[in-house]
Amino acid sequence: MADLAEIRTRAQGCTACPLNETRTQVVFGRGNPAASIVLVGEGPGRDEDREGLPFVGAAGQLLDKILAAVGLGEQDVFITNTVLCRPPGNRVPLPAEMEACRVHREAILGAMDPPIVVLLGATALKAVFGPKAGITAMRGERIERDGRAYYPTFHPAALLRDPSRKRPVWHDFRRIVADYHVIQAASAQGDATGSSSPVPGGGESR
Ligand code: URA
Repeated sequence: MADLAEIRTRAQGCTACPLNETRTQVVFGRGNPAASIVLVGEGPGRDEDREGLPFVGAAGQLLDKILAAVGLGEQDVFITNTVLCRPPGNRVPLPAEMEACRVHREAILGAMDPPIVVLLGATALKAVFGPKAGITAMRGERIERDGRAYYPTFHPAALLRDPSRKRPVWHDFRRIVADYHVIQAASAQGDATGSSSPVPGGGESR
């Protein structure tokens, strides 16, 4: 299986959808390539397109604050997006663009194999669970699939527009961190006994 560096190189040369014509650069991800938590946003905005890193604008600053508030730092997470190139004018990515980028997202998840994937907002949720999946209905759930736990929650930009959404997101991240600690403890024990660590609370969804 390709490692993250190879996947990044492939993505940087990607011309599979028209976003390659308008991007400044491919925005692959930031954080720890060996992290157990992967966060998936929507797509790079103007600041991200310029800097080449995801979530560096206002929404990113809020995301970093949320992560810090629950005790997570860059070493605990890897942050990427549903599409790796900026949609012009920061519009929502088109279904065909999301589909074209699926190969990169799945390669990242396949290479990292994180037990926890946080879906930030409707676009990331739909990219993984299909166009009918709704963020308002599904946020707060933990969905087990392919040995991973997916946690849909509101996008930080939605919190900037509507601060009443901060409380549910805070609740979601506290649960994510609690599950993360369970996984870390199980993996520390597995290291000691040679067994592997399961996703916590298997089968439970809320
Ligand atoms: N919003 C996103 O979804 N991703 C970014 O990288 C920045 C803002």
